[in-house]
Amino acid sequence: ILRAVPVGCGHYLPERVVSNAEFEATLDTTDEWIRARTGIERRHFAADDQKTSDLAIEAARAALNDAGLQGSDIDAIVLATATPDQTFPSTATRVQHAIGAGGFAFDMQAVCAGFIYALANADAMIKAGQAKRIMVIGAETFSRILDWTDRGTCVLFGDGAGAVILEAREGDGTSADAGILSTDLHSDGKYNHLLYVDGGVSSTGTIGVLRMQGPEVFKHAVGKLSAAGNTAMEKAGVSPDDVSYVVPHQANLRIISAVANKMSLPIDRIVVTVQDHGNTSAASIPMAMSVARADGRIKSGDLILMEAIGGGLAWGAALMRW
Ligand code: ACO
Repeated sequence: ILRAVPVGCGHYLPERVVSNAEFEATLDTTDEWIRARTGIERRHFAADDQKTSDLAIEAARAALNDAGLQGSDIDAIVLATATPDQTFPSTATRVQHAIGAGGFAFDMQAVCAGFIYALANADAMIKAGQAKRIMVIGAETFSRILDWTDRGTCVLFGDGAGAVILEAREGDGTSADAGILSTDLHSDGKYNHLLYVDGGVSSTGTIGVLRMQGPEVFKHAVGKLSAAGNTAMEKAGVSPDDVSYVVPHQANLRIISAVANKMSLPIDRIVVTVQDHGNTSAASIPMAMSVARADGRIKSGDLILMEAIGGGLAWGAALMRW
C-alpha cells in the first residue's frame, strides 16, 4: 500500500511581533484578559507589502531545506488558505513558480481546518498515483480581514505559514508504517453564521472582515474535535497511549486543554504554540509541527495526531507517523 510519508517541514513567521499590551492603547482590553481567556501572549503580523504567497514561499523553502530537496523535486503543491493573494490565480501557483516546482498546484479553503483537508487530499492523490512528492502548505494573513474595533476577534489572530513535504513510499498497511495513517473530515453548513467573513466576490464585491460568535464556536469545538480525533485513532487501530504528540489547531489554550483531557492525552504530549503565534488558521498546525520538529520533540517514528475546527463549521483530524 502506498503511504504519504513526511520527509521534511518548515515554517515562516513575519518579523513584526505584536504583544497583547499593544491592543490596550486602542481597545477596551487587557493583556491579562487575553492571556487568561485564550493563552495568547503575542502574534506576528505581516508587513504591508508581504502577501500570503511571500510567507508561503519562505515556509516552502524551509521545508525543502529540512528535507534536503530542491523545488524541482516537488510534483504537486496543495496550499490551504482563506486569505489568498488574489481571487485568482491560486496562491499555490505563485509558490510553484518561486520554488521551481513542476507538476500542478492549487489552493484549498476550509479555513482553520484547511491544513487537515489539504493533508487528506494529498494523501488521496498519493494513493491514487497522481503525484509522488507533494508539498502541503498552510499560509494566512488574517491581519488583512480583522475588524480592529472588535475586541472579541482582532486580538485572537496572527499571520504565518507552515509546510510539510509528503513522499509516496510503500508501506505494509499496518499502524507501524510511516506516513498518513488515517484522516477524518467533517463540515456542517448550518453553522455558517457562527464564523464568517462579511464580504466576498459574488456577494458584496468587497473583502469584508471576520465575524465570530466566539462562545458558540467554543461550544462546538471540544466535542467535535475529540470525536474526530478518536475516529482517526480508531480508523488506524491505535489508542491514545500510542500517540507521541498531538499537534492541534492553535485557536485557544482552553480548547486545546479540554480536547486533550477528553481524549485522555496528557498536556505534556500536546504541542502548544498559541502563546507565540495566536490563531493563524490553516497555518497553525504545520507551524506548530515545524516548531516541535526543530526543537527535537518530534522524532522519526513518532505518531502525531492533528485536529482542527473553524468556519463552516469545518473540522477534522489526521494521524501521521514521521
Ligand atoms: N478583552 C476584554 N474583554 C473581552 C474581550 C477582550 N479582548 N473580548 C471579549 N470580551 C468580553 C466580552 O465582551 C464579554 O463581556 P460581557 O460579559 O460584558 O458581555 C466577556 O469578555 C466574556 O466574553 P466571552 O466571549 O463570553 O468570553 P469567552 O471566554 O468565550 O472567550 C473567545 C472568547 C476567546 C473568543 C472564546 O470564545 C473562543 O476562543 N472561542 C473559540 C474561537 C475559535 O476556536 N474559533 C475557531 C477557529 S477560528 C477560524 O476558523 C477562523
